[in-house]
Amino acid sequence: MKNKLGILGGGQLGMFICKAAAKKNIKTTIFSTEENFSAKEFCNNFLIGNFDNTPLMEKFIDSSDYFTIETENIPSHILKKIEKRKKLFPSSNIVEIAQNRLKEKEFLNSIKGIKTANYEKVINYDSLKSGLTKFNNNGILKSCEMGYDGKGQFRINEKNLEKFNERNLKNFVLEEIVNFKKEISVIVCSSQKNIITYPPVENIHKDSILRETIYPAKINAKLTKDAINMAIKISNELKLEGVLAVEMFIDNDNKILINELAPRPHNSGHWSIDFCQYSQFENLISLIFNDFVKEPLPIKNCKMINVIGKEYEKKENLIKKYQFYDYFKDEVRDSRKMGHYVFTD
Ligand SMILES: Nc1ncnc2c1ncn2[C@@H]1O[C@H](COP(=O)(O)OP(=O)(O)O)[C@@H](O)[C@H]1O
Ligand SMILES: [Mg+2]
Repeated sequence: MKNKLGILGGGQLGMFICKAAAKKNIKTTIFSTEENFSAKEFCNNFLIGNFDNTPLMEKFIDSSDYFTIETENIPSHILKKIEKRKKLFPSSNIVEIAQNRLKEKEFLNSIKGIKTANYEKVINYDSLKSGLTKFNNNGILKSCEMGYDGKGQFRINEKNLEKFNERNLKNFVLEEIVNFKKEISVIVCSSQKNIITYPPVENIHKDSILRETIYPAKINAKLTKDAINMAIKISNELKLEGVLAVEMFIDNDNKILINELAPRPHNSGHWSIDFCQYSQFENLISLIFNDFVKEPLPIKNCKMINVIGKEYEKKENLIKKYQFYDYFKDEVRDSRKMGHYVFTD
């Protein structure tokens, strides 16, 4: 019987994947590039090192029947190496698209009926300057790769543009600012056999970091339907076997623009652990080992709040009042997600 899962990355998402796996008696092995990581106490085995450490990677590939990721920031040659011998959820070509903002935007805009914010490719200061002119001197510069939680992103206007003259701007995109009414996300889980979605949730960011997720999103029935259909369309286009989070903006004209994709469980789906019959993590395990996904069946309206940086000092109070999840991070850092809590709305 196949019951071993290898996970690339050991952060909080890895930790929740391990917990869901353990409930089904699936044995997990984590490959972590960090000495201390959230999933350490929750996995069955772990390997610590660089992804390019060949003997270690070979050992990892031998360890398990199936493989998944908890971050899209894994070198694609490593994903391809795994895929030569074992099955990876989702496939490397999906991760390659989602780990590069430019590829992702090109892919999304190539789908009929799907649009992102306007953007310009940036390769140097001149292209940044000309892009900014197109966007009325107001944009967000984003590194194409390795960004998360707003890292590698800069608001640019004519006042601070000059500062970027000396920077290496080889691999960036400049996005037009979207004056959005709301940010929402839809999480899709797909096996070969079937596909389900978690209903749209509303996401509130502060300083580009997810702060709060509200289920259900307070949007009308048409937007709800359109958001779900778009997420399914994107997943079908990708021939998804895995979990895909689709982040969206709703602009002032009630139009949906796709912000970005995450080909893995997502922070905005954490409410599903406590407030759905089947969480995004359980569905990930189910699609890998049973080739089947289940309707999430939400239980109650709820909110999830992230505990960021020094807010972690309030942990004892939060534990008393709420269902609190500790990510067991080795140190408190500003802007670092340290845990989350959920409650009924
Ligand atoms: N073009 C944009 N217009 C307005 N706000 C944006 C834009 N791009 C990003 N943001 C804000 O910054 C947040 C983080 O950006 P995102 O591209 O999702 O990067 P990350 O990978 O860090 O999540 C978004 O959720 C949104 O609140
Ligand atoms: Mg995002």
